[in-house]
Amino acid sequence: MLEQIAQTADFLRSRVIGEMPKLAIILGTGLGPIVDYIEEKQVIPYSEIPNFPISTVEGHAGCLIFGEMGGKRVMAMQGRFHYYEGYDMKQVTFPVRVMRALGVETLFVSNAAGGMNKDFKVGDVMIITDHINLFPENPLRGKNYKELGDRFPAMTEAYSHEYVKLANKIAEEKGLRLVHGVYVGTTGPTFETPAEYEYFRVIGGDAVGMSTVPEVIVANHAGMKVFGISVITDLGGKDITYVPTHEEVQEAAVTAQPTTVAIISEMVARVEL
Ligand code: HPA
Repeated sequence: MLEQIAQTADFLRSRVIGEMPKLAIILGTGLGPIVDYIEEKQVIPYSEIPNFPISTVEGHAGCLIFGEMGGKRVMAMQGRFHYYEGYDMKQVTFPVRVMRALGVETLFVSNAAGGMNKDFKVGDVMIITDHINLFPENPLRGKNYKELGDRFPAMTEAYSHEYVKLANKIAEEKGLRLVHGVYVGTTGPTFETPAEYEYFRVIGGDAVGMSTVPEVIVANHAGMKVFGISVITDLGGKDITYVPTHEEVQEAAVTAQPTTVAIISEMVARVEL
């Protein structure tokens, strides 16, 4: 694994013109348009990157983008690797390892999620304050490579408090509605039964989705600071029988776009690296 990470990082360093970024963004469902705000773009399809799996799901383009945003060098993953697609946890989180090898210290993650919190509305943007890992496997299971991080990493501040505060400040300044909550990560690809949404709410979750948790665990293992947002694309619970389609999930992500774009672009401009 160490060799593969180094090989992929070397390839990217040789392909990309300009400095390596300290900040990376993983763009989830429907959040791809944020790439329009990246300037001087260099786009590298995953299919050209050694050791990268190939993204298959609809709505995910599958490329790495290097460029500038808010006066900073950034890299963005347009399309991520989901556990439900059949990739193993090492594949799902491989790009985060490569980011770290390139010198990335701050990771922004985004996703679409179903809301269980009764105060949430479809189209809300939730700042992730914490998560619950309900994937059947932890991406750090197996041999620990000291070069990559400690055997037993703390997860007490998996999502940087400082970044949450900064997002709140930006939302206040711009008059944007934000909600906050705990993201429950599950395998999918089924959406939840009403009983499952209720169960996730009772155990402390505010939103549920099929990604993000593996990448955030690895980012924390690697000593990166993380900021996460979920777009609430549907609501679930005991009294809700509504079943979202993949298209509706993408539509709601589009509704939330002005808020997600404002928060992410302003966060990128303002974080200290
Ligand atoms: N459940 C799981 N994943 C999701 C959902 C959901 O309701 N909505 C968007 N991604």
